Amino acid sequence: MTETGVNTSTPEVLRRRMVADLRARGAITSDEVAAAFLAVPRHLFAPEVSPQEVYNAPEGIFTKYNDRGKPVSSVSAPWLQARMLEAAQVARGMTVLEVGSGGANAALLAELVGEQSSVTSVDIDPDITLRARTLLDKAGYGGVRVRQADGAQPLPDVPARGFDRIVVTVGAADVAAAWVDQLAPDGRLLVPLRFRGLSRTFAFAREGRHLRSDTVIRSGFVAMQGFSAHAVRSVRLAGRDVRLIVDEDQEADADALAEAFTGPRHEQWSGVELSGQEGLLPRLEVWLAGVIAPYGRLRATSETVERGLVGWVLGAGMPAVWDDGSLAYLTLRPVPRSASERYELGVIAHGPGCEQLASRLADAVRRFDREKRDAEPVVRAYRPDDPDVPGGVSVDKPSTRLTID
Ligand SMILES: C[S@@+](CC[C@H](N)C(=O)[O-])C[C@H]1O[C@@H](n2cnc3c(N)ncnc32)[C@H](O)[C@@H]1O
Repeated sequence: MTETGVNTSTPEVLRRRMVADLRARGAITSDEVAAAFLAVPRHLFAPEVSPQEVYNAPEGIFTKYNDRGKPVSSVSAPWLQARMLEAAQVARGMTVLEVGSGGANAALLAELVGEQSSVTSVDIDPDITLRARTLLDKAGYGGVRVRQADGAQPLPDVPARGFDRIVVTVGAADVAAAWVDQLAPDGRLLVPLRFRGLSRTFAFAREGRHLRSDTVIRSGFVAMQGFSAHAVRSVRLAGRDVRLIVDEDQEADADALAEAFTGPRHEQWSGVELSGQEGLLPRLEVWLAGVIAPYGRLRATSETVERGLVGWVLGAGMPAVWDDGSLAYLTLRPVPRSASERYELGVIAHGPGCEQLASRLADAVRRFDREKRDAEPVVRAYRPDDPDVPGGVSVDKPSTRLTID
């Protein structure tokens, strides 16, 4: 309300403010995506919360939890939907498959393609498809197709040339073969991938027989269920307080690593500096997964950092490497007397092979600084049997082999 008593917080006003804000933050960059966000009555897709909350949501709004209290469905955050739609480059007349329903994003896609029936949204959970169907009808998007299916499996009614765009809105640990098969020759695939303890959404286009990413978005999504469901492994180094996060397929001797962690600490400083704003660390984290193996993430509570049990580790964790009985992880320290806030990257290592392991990690960081510091990492997704897969380190999943450079 204003001082004059006029209600300025109608959904339309909130929506306009949201779009202005998303534009100012660079999440919306095109008039088409802005127009779609202005058209979709977003509050109708999360009726359990107030319009204010829907239009100002900094992150997703959870709409369903499993019996262990874990969120399994949500309406994704406006900034994330905006960035993904911009990266998807959706245009009028295209056919689009959305994997993971909710309603809001399917409505945005319908606005962008201009023909509701060109959008198919699939969800594995019948509660969610019922919810999406009901909310889409209510919001005037009755033509959007909603199907209950495992979106990582082949679907029955795919357009003859494939979908022009496939937008996966659930955290996957693999690039499902069905997505590559169902994608048009000039199609684009948006997929949030979880690997090596990281969570990034990639926009892929075809490059010969494989896919090549051209956009990387830092993002978190609820985990995929069904055929492509996966569990993250957590190796405890000091109870639950300090853990190494590894993929299911990676070997890590939990007892030997926990034992190493109790031993003396070896430190190496790389000389590579960064500031909090430049986004270097997120790029480095992805790039390292393509040059060093085994590679995962060390997570530690802030209390263990304060106690000095671990070095300075950020809340979401830091890159880590290990071998049979040693481990090393990245850490930061402030650069003294720097004009702006700057930090130096270093390595802390434990175990009999700690010096060698620390040098490998520190050398990789220096190479990144020399060769890739300002570049967005490029991920290529090959079929596992593709003879073109280059040698070297890859991230191997059942349906895909990821290389990163
Ligand atoms: C983040 S929500 C989708 C958000 C939605 N696109 C929106 O408009 O904001 C993720 C959804 O993926 C669904 N899901 C999980 N595994 C799936 C699978 N294998 N196939 C299809 N949907 C799946 C979940 O049931 C959940 O509803």
